[in-house]
Amino acid sequence: MLTCCVEQTFGVALSADERCFSGIRCGCILGSMSTVGPGLFAIGDDWVPVLKPLPLFEGMSSRHLRRIPAKARRFQPGEAIVRAGDPGSGFYMILDGEVRVDPPEGRPVVLKAGDYFGEMALLDGAPRSADITALGEVTVMVIARAAFSKLLRSEPQIAQVLLRTLAGRLRAAEKQF
Ligand code: CMP
Repeated sequence: MLTCCVEQTFGVALSADERCFSGIRCGCILGSMSTVGPGLFAIGDDWVPVLKPLPLFEGMSSRHLRRIPAKARRFQPGEAIVRAGDPGSGFYMILDGEVRVDPPEGRPVVLKAGDYFGEMALLDGAPRSADITALGEVTVMVIARAAFSKLLRSEPQIAQVLLRTLAGRLRAAEKQF
């Protein structure tokens, strides 16, 4: 059976109606999002099965997931998603596609669906630490700064997962020097 990219990358089974970022069957999750601005979509109930298996949201009930005030945004190949030095306005989870992280020092890093970025500037209030560019067409889920802080307070296990990721990225960076 053909599976769509959401199923492949997140390992979730979607119903036929939910299927198809990849165009295998239209009427997909993204198609069902309501447009709320240029390249910006509201995330509806359809995303719960996609977000639920992600380690970041481990243990969160469907009711709580549905309440995450997130928007989806699409970026074109080569488009800048985050620029080093800018103030941090949101947290990003990659739903589809790949991005390249270019830290000011060290090697570029590729992040893929299920990975997230933009947490650092939100956690410490410092400017963005790296440029992030869409490698192909990319769809991300964006949680605005205030909503992200509120989410961390209400779902403290998310902070644990973020800390694990930060520690991993620090170790990987240390290995380069
Ligand atoms: P922030 O500084 O808010 O914006 C840029 C983001 O790039 C940063 O948060 C991290 O999420 C991500 N980032 C920075 N350096 C690395 C790295 N070495 N590996 C992976 N991601 C990184």
